[in-house]
Amino acid sequence: MMVPSSSEQAKIDRAHRATEPADRVVVASLAITLDGFVADERGGVSFLDAFNPDTLGFDRFLAGVAALVMGRRTFDQILSFGVWPYGSRPTTVLTTRPLVLPDSRAQPWFAPARVAASALAPEELRASIERSLGAPGDIWIVGGARVLADFARADAIDRWELTRVPVLLARGVPLLECMPSGWSRKLTHTRSDVLPGGVVHSVYSRT
Ligand SMILES: NC(=O)c1ccc[n+]([C@@H]2O[C@H](COP(=O)([O-])OP(=O)(O)OC[C@H]3O[C@@H](n4cnc5c(N)ncnc54)[C@H](OP(=O)(O)O)[C@@H]3O)[C@@H](O)[C@H]2O)c1
Repeated sequence: MMVPSSSEQAKIDRAHRATEPADRVVVASLAITLDGFVADERGGVSFLDAFNPDTLGFDRFLAGVAALVMGRRTFDQILSFGVWPYGSRPTTVLTTRPLVLPDSRAQPWFAPARVAASALAPEELRASIERSLGAPGDIWIVGGARVLADFARADAIDRWELTRVPVLLARGVPLLECMPSGWSRKLTHTRSDVLPGGVVHSVYSRT
């Protein structure tokens, strides 16, 4: 996943209240290689290091996000980067284990974070987030692959935003894994933009 700089984060926070609660959707937004991987064989995302997140429209995307959902592995990986790029947006971490959060006195970058653990299924989780959210904005399913697959299987994703970087990995963590045999969904292409570095950002909605 890509993370914005702190100046971009300030712009994001200012623009945050961009949509009405009634317009809220669940959006899966991930960076992906040309051959469909969201991480390398070891779960790393260093293939994204060559691309500057500030030129890739993440500020605009985050401006419309009110809440985030991510899997435990993705959460732990983000913490290992030593940054929390999502400000105070409420973040649900799906996990079966107690969360271990950084002490924000020792790690002040984590101070704004509002993180809670959950083990709810996609539709219940969406309903629970909807109930607790005052602010308008979308619910961003950050990933990883397991969480995405659960939401896709439950038909709980309204919009897909894929940021396709010109990299081939040959092996790695696919966008969707462990899906039932025969599963497919036709999506409607809404928009594609070519960004610096040959990155293509595409938006798809439910058909
Ligand atoms: N390219 C991108 O934009 C992008 C974005 C996000 C992630 N990623 C990559 O995706 C990879 C991680 O994906 P992943 O599939 O391995 O892991 P993940 O989806 O991040 O996390 C999976 C873990 O979350 C917990 N979990 C998920 N759903 C749950 C539920 N309903 N109830 C309770 N616990 C639940 C379980 O952990 P426990 O049972 O252990 O608690 C599970 O093992 C990383 O390599 C990361 O880099 C890439």
